[in-house]
Amino acid sequence: MTQDELKTLVGQAALQYVTPGTIVGVGTGSTVDKFIDALAASGMQIAGAVSSSVRSTERMKALGIRVFEAGEVESLPVYIDGADEIDHGGHMIKGGGAALTREKIVADLAQRFVCIADESKLVRTLGKFPLPVEVIPMATAQIARRFAALGGEARLREGVTTDNGCQILDVRGLQIVDPSGFEAEVSQWPGVVTVGVFARNRASVCLLGTAEGVRTLDF
Ligand code: A5P
Repeated sequence: MTQDELKTLVGQAALQYVTPGTIVGVGTGSTVDKFIDALAASGMQIAGAVSSSVRSTERMKALGIRVFEAGEVESLPVYIDGADEIDHGGHMIKGGGAALTREKIVADLAQRFVCIADESKLVRTLGKFPLPVEVIPMATAQIARRFAALGGEARLREGVTTDNGCQILDVRGLQIVDPSGFEAEVSQWPGVVTVGVFARNRASVCLLGTAEGVRTLDF
């Protein structure tokens, strides 16, 4: 099976976590695109969605799915999103699509995070995928020096401005053995808007696309 077919498989499988009549949290990325398409094609009647990006909002609206602002809901039963890496504890690296801040906000509203990913995303230790960090532009150099002190090499993602008007640093060379401690530490550096480690808002379930079918990891 191709990677695209694996994404279609898990996008479809995520429908079982959606309850008709509810508002669903929807993430961003090529795997989530498959989920959005499957949701629209299923004919399931949901009240609508809260979206983590302009990209997903536009896709859902085009398919007739109502999109609410995050501030309009108090909580969501489920948030469905992809990941750049996920470990065996459900901790993730996210932000490859630069939508990490809104993803963390919507994930935080949800009672359950269902991660959908192909099997290439499952890792023993987070850090091989360059860690995205959204930063206030004036703090970029200062934050890059802090990562260098941890053994990471931070590079500015050229030509990218986030939905929040900020910049993205991609940090290579990290081995994130303590995702919760790492997230807590980096999140309080001045100028960091969001670090792309999702530990506090880790996945509750991961639907992993494999050649043998969908593997469900419960955390
Ligand atoms: C978006 O900012 C990311 O967090 C995505 O969830 C992640 O990059 C996964 O994307 P794909 O589904 O395209 O691999």
